[in-house]
Amino acid sequence: MKKIMAANWKMYKTGPEAAATVGELAKLLGGRAPDGREIVVFAPATALERTAEAIKAVAGAEAGAENMYPAEEGAFTGEISPLMIKACGARWVLTGHSERRHILGESDAFVGQKTAFALAQGLRVMLCVGETLEEREAGGLQEVLERQLREGLKEIPADTAPENLAVAYEPVWAIGTGKTAGPEDILEAHSLCRSLLGALLGEKAAQTAILYGGSVKPANAGSILALDNVDGVLVGGASLKAESFLQIINAH
Ligand code: 13P
Repeated sequence: MKKIMAANWKMYKTGPEAAATVGELAKLLGGRAPDGREIVVFAPATALERTAEAIKAVAGAEAGAENMYPAEEGAFTGEISPLMIKACGARWVLTGHSERRHILGESDAFVGQKTAFALAQGLRVMLCVGETLEEREAGGLQEVLERQLREGLKEIPADTAPENLAVAYEPVWAIGTGKTAGPEDILEAHSLCRSLLGALLGEKAAQTAILYGGSVKPANAGSILALDNVDGVLVGGASLKAESFLQIINAH
């Protein structure tokens, strides 16, 4: 399985800024993702088309949307559909990001509807899961991951190809805080995710990528990527500059 090196640009970058960063990255990479790695850039909706266009200059890289609504079209002011995402030239969408769960109030059930609908519409989906500090301190890690994965994957099409689905484990307390989960924490959570995926997806679980996210930086990416069951990283702040994202993409 290739490792997935993913950037989540959150609410940063206009279209021209996104295109410029991708252009810089393409030059630094010499027009291709390193062997054994694929690159995904999740960009804001307003920058998605420019990002998808610019990323064509990198073989092995794709653009993704940060959000979508689970309907083909309709009276859903402010939302975008999988069809619109595909028409921008993007292939991926994020679901269940902790900022959407905790700031925008998305429920496990809604995340599940979105994940299933996006897959049925032919997008590749990265489902984010992870516990808050309170949940962790109360010993709730397994229960949270179990619930978020079960509800998140509840209605996915039976014929979902494993390469179209990825899970990102992002402990909420490590996002944007500079606190990275330690190797033991990551090993424990990723192994839990792998076995929970086994119960939910059967054989496909072994080929479903599980990424780590939360304060990934050039200095820690190599050691995180070397851990068992870590099939990539999902990077916020440190992906905003091409130079820093490049170092993470190349980290060993
Ligand atoms: P940071 O890398 O900024 O901690 O963000 C992680 C994240 O939320 C990626 O989706």
